[in-house]
Amino acid sequence: MLKHLTRALVFAPFAGVHSKFVILGRRDNAPPGFSLIGSPPADEVLTLRLALAQSNIQGLQDAVYDISTPGGPRYGQYLTQAEVDDYVVPSAETLDRVNTWLAASNLMASPLTSAGDWVKVNMTVAQANTLLAADFSTFQIAATNQTVIRTLSYSIPSALQNSIHWIHPTISFPDSNSLAAPPRINNISSVTSAHPPTVYLSADCQGLSNWNPACLQELYEIPSTPAKPAANVFGVSGFQNDFSNKRDLRVYILTFLEIYRPDINPNTTFNFLSVDQGINNQLPGGAGQDGNSNIQYAIALATGVPVTFISTGTLPNDLITEMLDQANYLLSLEQPPQTLLNTALVGVESFVFGGGGFSQQMAISLCNAYAQLAARGVSLIVQTDIFGAGGIPALPSCMPFDPPFPATCPFVTAVGGTEFDANQNELEETPSKSSGGGFSSHFARPRYQDTAVSAYLAATNNTNSTAFNVSGRAVPDLSAISMVDFIFEQRVFNLSHTPQFSAAIFASVVALLTNERIAAGKPGLGFLNPLIYQHGNAFKDFTTGSNPGCNSPGFNATSGWDPVSGFGSPSYSKLQKIIQDL
Ligand SMILES: *[C@@H]1O[C@H](CO)[C@@H](O)[C@H](O)[C@H]1NC(C)=O
Ligand SMILES: *[C@@H]1O[C@H](CO)[C@@H](O)[C@H](O)[C@H]1NC(C)=O
Ligand SMILES: *[C@@H]1O[C@H](CO)[C@@H](O)[C@H](O)[C@H]1NC(C)=O
Ligand SMILES: *[C@@H]1O[C@H](CO)[C@@H](O)[C@H](O)[C@H]1NC(C)=O
Ligand SMILES: *[C@@H]1O[C@H](CO)[C@@H](O)[C@H](O)[C@H]1NC(C)=O
Ligand SMILES: *[C@@H]1O[C@H](CO)[C@@H](O)[C@H](O)[C@H]1NC(C)=O
Ligand SMILES: *[C@@H]1O[C@H](CO)[C@@H](O)[C@H](O)[C@H]1NC(C)=O
Ligand SMILES: *[C@@H]1O[C@H](CO)[C@@H](O)[C@H](O)[C@H]1NC(C)=O
Ligand SMILES: *[C@@H]1O[C@H](CO)[C@@H](O)[C@H](O)[C@H]1NC(C)=O
Repeated sequence: MLKHLTRALVFAPFAGVHSKFVILGRRDNAPPGFSLIGSPPADEVLTLRLALAQSNIQGLQDAVYDISTPGGPRYGQYLTQAEVDDYVVPSAETLDRVNTWLAASNLMASPLTSAGDWVKVNMTVAQANTLLAADFSTFQIAATNQTVIRTLSYSIPSALQNSIHWIHPTISFPDSNSLAAPPRINNISSVTSAHPPTVYLSADCQGLSNWNPACLQELYEIPSTPAKPAANVFGVSGFQNDFSNKRDLRVYILTFLEIYRPDINPNTTFNFLSVDQGINNQLPGGAGQDGNSNIQYAIALATGVPVTFISTGTLPNDLITEMLDQANYLLSLEQPPQTLLNTALVGVESFVFGGGGFSQQMAISLCNAYAQLAARGVSLIVQTDIFGAGGIPALPSCMPFDPPFPATCPFVTAVGGTEFDANQNELEETPSKSSGGGFSSHFARPRYQDTAVSAYLAATNNTNSTAFNVSGRAVPDLSAISMVDFIFEQRVFNLSHTPQFSAAIFASVVALLTNERIAAGKPGLGFLNPLIYQHGNAFKDFTTGSNPGCNSPGFNATSGWDPVSGFGSPSYSKLQKIIQDL
């Protein structure tokens, strides 16, 4: 019955059973893979997280652009935690309403952030069902027998509807399988290394289809000399208990550094930070391929820059909330890592904002948290995906022109994939056909993209522009090699093909450039996109190739920025010249 009540037009005081409710979230069914198996005990305690209305997100976003745009009067003047908190702290009225509502049931929220915009509160299933007009039930994942407690609908008193954005866990389900994630190992058996030499590279690097640190240093002119000591940290993220195995990096007979960077100390390793009880147990077989490969490339390419692996556990039990917890944790540090790599892929937008386990409000909250990191001077680098311009082709629900999230958040730098495709007999780096790119349906095009994206649309005469939203945030921003060697469980893997590697390579470039700035007594590079879009010519432009996906022909690479390869792949020396002059 409660569902059918309409919004209250006037502010109504809390009046127990008489207060009107509004639905804050609902879904028709649990996502595929989950089945309802019953009700949890009424006295089981749930820890719910509440996202409260932040006071001035527009002001925060304006500040991010001011401090991140080279040439502006405030460029490089990153904000302190207290200054960021001023933008996101909930209003006194919001806090009062929420606390009064909880206190009426003898409940109390405790803050998860210093601003208090993200709070948690414990309550029993029975209390939650009453308070939220919900029906918390137990759902099971068939494949693993894992159970989760969720509701298909929840409501709050209408007087609170502008104060609470969303509550978790309610209607958002964890991934029941890897629906949202690309296959970790994409076996491309047809690739061979026998193709004509790439003449401008040294003999060892000619004819490579899968790359290694030494050849990447050559290809992108990345320096191999150790970075100068500087108060600089390169953070590498792992989620869902992903971690990196130190044995694969060093100590064993065949270690990554001994094979690929014999010129540096083979004992070089990484620091570790745990969020939500993220693990780092170093047991054989426990590490993740993403954790391993990201750490191996971070240490081997960002020579001399201190690398910290940030492992987030499964406490909130879904990727967006884990990412939000990680972002809020990093925001609580006096100095968050200046460069942050996050290669976890929540999914294509239609999944994240629609039929998937998540909700639009959660994705927007995460993007706002990334704006806060940008305000603190963090360069956040993410990957696109391996589905071209469309969604996951194996799923009947795949949609053409469906870009990846969180790449489409305007406050991250999104990296697509390139390759030397032996089957195409290619002598030059070209965009990967499978590399994700396109236009967001949910985030508007940021100003920094206007010139580049308008030029692309004009040059292609807006071909097929009815199939996607030309006003959306467009991705990727740039691209880099997407096929590399890495070590996992003491074996060399050389068949993976994913922009995850591209993001790790570019993040290493950024960590080195940032180190140069900090060693010279200047601030780090912060949110990179305004700089990148001012200097598209610091990247190697690709004018051939396309990214078909989900039965659509996708986009074509063109001269200048395009939704296949962005501006192209980085040139360290060109970027170095630019950042020295800032
Ligand atoms: C809330 O519940 C969690 C999980 O049961 C528990 O660890 C925590 O101590 C509780 N917190 C409070 C304030 O009761
Ligand atoms: C799930 O539970 C059923 C019934 O107890 C059992 O037969 C099956 O092996 C379990 N599956 C897994 C993956 O544990
Ligand atoms: C790659 O494919 C080969 C042949 O199909 C298979 O034997 C191998 O296990 C696959 N490797 C991975 C990592 O999936
Ligand atoms: C690496 O660590 C081992 C064991 O602690 C030590 O014997 C060796 O000297 C170290 N190598 C270098 C180059 O520091
Ligand atoms: C396209 O995106 C813009 C900006 O996000 C939005 O205002 C507009 O409603 C979108 N148009 C459609 C048809 O979805
Ligand atoms: C766009 O239109 C112009 C003028 O009609 C034409 O010359 C040009 O070839 C078109 N470009 C593409 C990519 O279709
Ligand atoms: C991968 O490594 C194996 C073993 O070293 C080698 O035989 C194979 O040619 C490599 N594959 C590619 C694509 O380089
Ligand atoms: C436009 O998109 C539709 C839908 O994916 C596709 O069938 C068509 O071929 C595309 N046209 C061009 C010119 O890319
Ligand atoms: C891509 O290029 C092909 C071949 O030149 C052309 O037919 C197609 O219309 C182009 N697609 C877009 C979206 O511009």
